[in-house]
Amino acid sequence: MARFDGRFAAVTGAASGNGRAIAEKLLADGAKVAALDLNTDALTNVFGDNPNVLNVECNVADEHSSRAAMEAVSKEFPRLDVLVNNAGIVKFGTFEELSVSEWDQVFAVNSTGPFIVTQAASKLLRSEEVSHTRAVVNITSVEAHIVISSSGHPQIHYNASKGALLQLTRALSVELAPAGIRVNAVAPGYIRTPFTAEALEREEVRKFLLDRTPLGRIGEPEDVANGVAFLASDEASWVTGSTLFVDGGWTVY
Ligand SMILES: NC(=O)c1ccc[n+]([C@@H]2O[C@H](COP(=O)([O-])OP(=O)(O)OC[C@H]3O[C@@H](n4cnc5c(N)ncnc54)[C@H](O)[C@@H]3O)[C@@H](O)[C@H]2O)c1
Repeated sequence: MARFDGRFAAVTGAASGNGRAIAEKLLADGAKVAALDLNTDALTNVFGDNPNVLNVECNVADEHSSRAAMEAVSKEFPRLDVLVNNAGIVKFGTFEELSVSEWDQVFAVNSTGPFIVTQAASKLLRSEEVSHTRAVVNITSVEAHIVISSSGHPQIHYNASKGALLQLTRALSVELAPAGIRVNAVAPGYIRTPFTAEALEREEVRKFLLDRTPLGRIGEPEDVANGVAFLASDEASWVTGSTLFVDGGWTVY
């Protein structure tokens, strides 16, 4: 029996990169997955008519859209055992030139989005039908803990938004524990996805990254997905409020 047989999961930003790999890992391990994304064409391209996938349009930064998405999930799934808040954006710019609207945009997706989506999903997560704990996994970043400006551009709003998500994870883990819902984070280092594709084309960026990564390679979305699957599974049933670094050892230095 696979570890997510009979389990129901939702993954935001599931059409690309880490979110796609997370959804595919949960599917491979037996879950039925609601794949949520802004980009519904990409969802269709990726998951087609897989009977174990429910493609749902969702803008995590928008309360109405997120509530409508969870309403659609509740029509097909009896509950949620796993929610992965993965959708995120990055923007670059120096402190002096950063506009308030760009700051707000990054926070809306990376920090407020997981709050909105988790709140919209809370009824589905609060199940009394099952004895296993349910799990929320938030995708933060090593940049919630350290500042690397790895692509050569400052990104203080990204750093701050991921720091906020880290503390949301910790605070929510306490509030949801009595309901049997665990809340943890995976903090990826540099992962090869469309998010980082442009930077990774530059030799100096690859060298900078590899010189500081003890395990000596760039991360793959599957590395992130494996970490998420552990935290979402019963093997992590006494783990909450914590962060799993999936970074090849970057943050050790
Ligand atoms: N790639 C990395 O090196 C890296 C490192 C650390 C953390 N992360 C985090 O991993 C997560 C995924 O990043 P990725 O590299 O896979 O990016 P990606 O750009 O490949 O994929 C992001 C997905 O999120 C979707 N999305 C964007 N805004 C959305 C919104 N408002 N509502 C719903 N969906 C939305 C996009 O359509 C896309 O499908 C992000 O939270 C990112 O901060 C990535």
